[in-house]
This record gives sequence, C-alpha cells and structure tokens, in this order.
Amino acid sequence: MKINVKRQILTKSTSELLVIPAEEFISKKQKLKKFIGFNENLVSDLLIPLDLRFNGALSSSLKKFNYVPSASKRQGVIVIEGKKYFNVRFSGLSKDAFSEGFLDLEEWRLLGVDSVKEALKNKNSTISIDLSRVGKKEAISIVEAVIEGALLAEYEFDRYKTNKKDNKFFIKELNLLSPFSLFSSVENAKVKVESSILARDLVNTPARDLTPKDFLKISKKVVGERGNFLTLEVYNEAALKKMKAGCLLSVSIGSSEPPYMLHIKYKPKLRNKNSKKIVLVGKGVTFDSGGLSLKPASSMTTMKCDMAGAAAVLGTMKSLASLGVKHEVHAIIPLVENLINGKATKPGDVVKALNSKTVEILNTDAEGRLILADALSFSKKLKADIVIDLATLTGACIVALGDDITGLYSNSDSLADNLLESSKKSGEKLWRMPLEPSYKKLIKSKIADLQNIGGRSGGSITAALFLQEFVPEGVKWAHLDIAGPAFIEKQNEYLSYGGTGYGVRLLLDFLRSY
Ligand code: BES
Ligand code: ZN
Ligand code: ZN
Repeated sequence: MKINVKRQILTKSTSELLVIPAEEFISKKQKLKKFIGFNENLVSDLLIPLDLRFNGALSSSLKKFNYVPSASKRQGVIVIEGKKYFNVRFSGLSKDAFSEGFLDLEEWRLLGVDSVKEALKNKNSTISIDLSRVGKKEAISIVEAVIEGALLAEYEFDRYKTNKKDNKFFIKELNLLSPFSLFSSVENAKVKVESSILARDLVNTPARDLTPKDFLKISKKVVGERGNFLTLEVYNEAALKKMKAGCLLSVSIGSSEPPYMLHIKYKPKLRNKNSKKIVLVGKGVTFDSGGLSLKPASSMTTMKCDMAGAAAVLGTMKSLASLGVKHEVHAIIPLVENLINGKATKPGDVVKALNSKTVEILNTDAEGRLILADALSFSKKLKADIVIDLATLTGACIVALGDDITGLYSNSDSLADNLLESSKKSGEKLWRMPLEPSYKKLIKSKIADLQNIGGRSGGSITAALFLQEFVPEGVKWAHLDIAGPAFIEKQNEYLSYGGTGYGVRLLLDFLRSY
C-alpha cells in the first residue's frame, strides 16, 4: 500500500495543533460566533486555530457552505488543507440515530473518499477530522470508516499498464481531534483494506496469470506470513479423486490446469465463551468459459472474476489475526478452471458428489454449484456451527437484484439478521432471498438424485436450493450470491473498474462482531 498516514492524535487542547495566544483565541472565537452565528458550545476548538492559519478564510468558507451547527446533531468536520488550499466537508449525525445505536458509517466512508479526491488534486494535504463531540464507540467506528473509504478510493489495478499513474499518496498528515486514543482504528482500517485489495488484485488478474496453481501459490504466501495463526492443507487432484469429489472433478476434467481444494485454518490466540467454529467457502473458478454449454462471447469477457468468492475468503483469512477475531475460522476453497477439451463433461453426464448424491449435469455452465457441492460436503467433518459460502453463482441473481446487491440465502433467521447488520455497517449490500421449498422439485432429475439446473425462472433460488442439498445437517448456513457486486464495469463512488473485493469487509465485520 502506497498510503502512509501520519497519525497525530490530538487531545481537545489546541496547543498541540497550533499555539495561539489566549486573547487572540478568545477574540477569534467571538468573531467566529458572530460571523456565522455559532452557538458557543458548538464552536469546535479545532476550527479556530485552522481559521487563524488561513487568515479567516475557513470561517468564510464555512459560511459559504451554509454550515449551521445544530444542537440536535452531532457533527464531524473534515478539513483538508493542501498548499494554500483547503476544503471543508461536514457530516451531521442526528442524536436519535446515535441513541438507537445506529451510525451511518457509509456517510463517513464517503467523507474519506472525498478527502482522497481532494488530496489527489493537492499534494501534501493535511486532513483534520474533528471528532471532539463524538463518543468513544462512535469515534472508533467513524475513524475506521473514514480511513477505509480513503484507502479504498485510492486503489487502481495497474499491473499491466506501461505508464503507471503517479498515484503516490498525498495526504501528508492526518489529524484526529478526539479525547480518545484512535490509533487502533487507523490500524484496523489499514488491515481491512489490505485484505480487500488482495481480493481485488486476485479478481483483476487475468486467468492466464491466475490459474488454480497460481491461486494456491498466493495462498501459501498469505498463510506463510501469518505462520502462528494460519495453517494450510492442500488437496491435489489425486487427493480429490481419493475423497471422491466427483462434482468438482467433473468441472476440472475439461481443463489442463489441475484442480485443488484448499483448507486454511485460523486458530485464534484468544477465545471466549461465545467463540464459534465458522467455515467460509469460496467459489474459485479461475475462468468460466461455460464448458461445452459454452457462454456467448460477450458473457465471457469478465469471467476471470469467477473466483471472487475464493478471493474474498482468502482476503478475509489474511487479517483475522490482526483484527483479533476470536472465532475458529476455516476456509474451504475449491479451485478449478471451466474449459473444454476432449475429456470435458458432456451435458447429460451423471456424477457422484462427495456426499454420495448423484447429479445429472444438464448444463456445464452451472459449474459453480458443482464445486461448491463438494466443498460444502467436505466441511461436514469440521463439525462447524456456521457455514457461509460466497459465490459468483448466477446471472439470474444480477437480473433480480442488479449490479450492487448480493443475494443472501440462509436456513437461519438469526444468522441472516447478523449478516444484514454487518452489511449495513460495512456498506456491502445484501438482500435476503427465499429458500422456497416448493421449488425443490425443479432440481429433481429424471434419472439421478438431482440435476444441476432448474430452468430460467428463479434461477438464483434453484441454485441456492441445489447447494442446500450439500450443507451438513444441523449447521447454520448462509449462501451469498455475489455475481453482481463482485466485479463492476462502471466505477462507483469509491471502487474503480473491476474487482471490488466484495465480501471481505462484510465478513470481517461479521466475524468481529458475532
Ligand atoms: N459464473 C457464472 C455466473 C455469473 C454470471 C457470474 C455473470 C458473474 C457474472 C455461472 O457459473 C453461470 O454461468 N451460471 C449460469 C447458470 C445457468 C446455466 C443455470 C447463469 O447464470 O447463466
Ligand atoms: Zn458458469
Ligand atoms: Zn461460474
């Protein structure tokens, strides 16, 4: 990461920021009050020294922005200073919103995004965030969100560009005005964003340079760097044959690239009585051509993204230790390439899954559910409390929810609610979809136990119902169909074109707060 945020945590005393003679300070405060009609106890001590530094330009800017501090709102002020330049942003949070325990962190994330955009225009900017009127719990979340937004906004995938943009970070200094120590929030934001960026890099890397073997190599590196906390077990093709992962092997057989299944285990240093065993499963199709049920050319152009679930899971594992997650977390990552050769699976073939159910493969492009079937079955021996899978599973989910929203399926209302809560906090959008039992008939095969497609209607639901057939009994399970948000063709407020790292921030919030 290029960003180097200099942390300077200020107390309420202004002296650390700028030494101002008392008389001048008081008279300035009076002037400011009169000038913009500030209510005495709402005039922040941060604004005065900054205003002095800019010869009153800040107060006139505040007036221009129509900054009216109100007693019913807690406000944060961000001041971005460059060379002879500064900009001011405000964020108002109503007291009611606070008392309900709800904080619109996305608003603060966007504030961070704004600061980066300004700072990019003005090298060596200083950013000051006034949180002097914000409580400790809120301040911790706010700082994390602001910095997260700032760091996420800066990312661009330029590995293959000859002329790389000079994207060296320009925020010279970050001032946080708060009576509380916020160092760890800054660190946590950086850790989280590093994980998101790992996932984005993996998704953005073309399939030629990211085969299952390459993914394995990178996983080894991630695990190696976290030696005390993470362990990796690799199941190669021979091992997969031995364990009879027939569904997964039916996909990889059409490619010359060997398949793998990775099992990464995170052992927390500290546990408490609420510690659970949680399994994360990520779809890792490094390229999805559709197989013999070949995709049309235009649907194939972005299919390097079909391992976004696997990338999100690996990214998440990377920072569990740094964030002090207290659950035992396991990652199961099936890795294949869905291609065509003389041995490729033919529509109508019947295979046997790891849990012994037989599957008629009517469409080789519905390959994600096949590799997940075996990965989910594999998780049985872990005797987990919770299993969550992430997969770019269906185009139908994009039709249903659009590009920005993930489809959430779960057999547990409480797990679904917890994930929805984390979604709100992380800004990674989720919408719960039904696991409609009466649709199960759509995936019954005429000649085997199951068939791998259920027709056009409700395509995302029948895919989820298919997965449910392989979920170990008794576990709370959630399936996230991330086909839409995993990869964006149009940049949004803070994510550039390509892989978004969707799921990393959501899962990390879930694992930290569950
Ligand atoms: N990887 C695709 C789903 C996908 C589509 C991901 C668009 C990202 C963007 C998946 O393997 C697939 O091809 N699904 C088929 C299923 C169908 C054959 C039942 C689909 O959605 O068309
Ligand atoms: Zn497919
Ligand atoms: Zn796919």
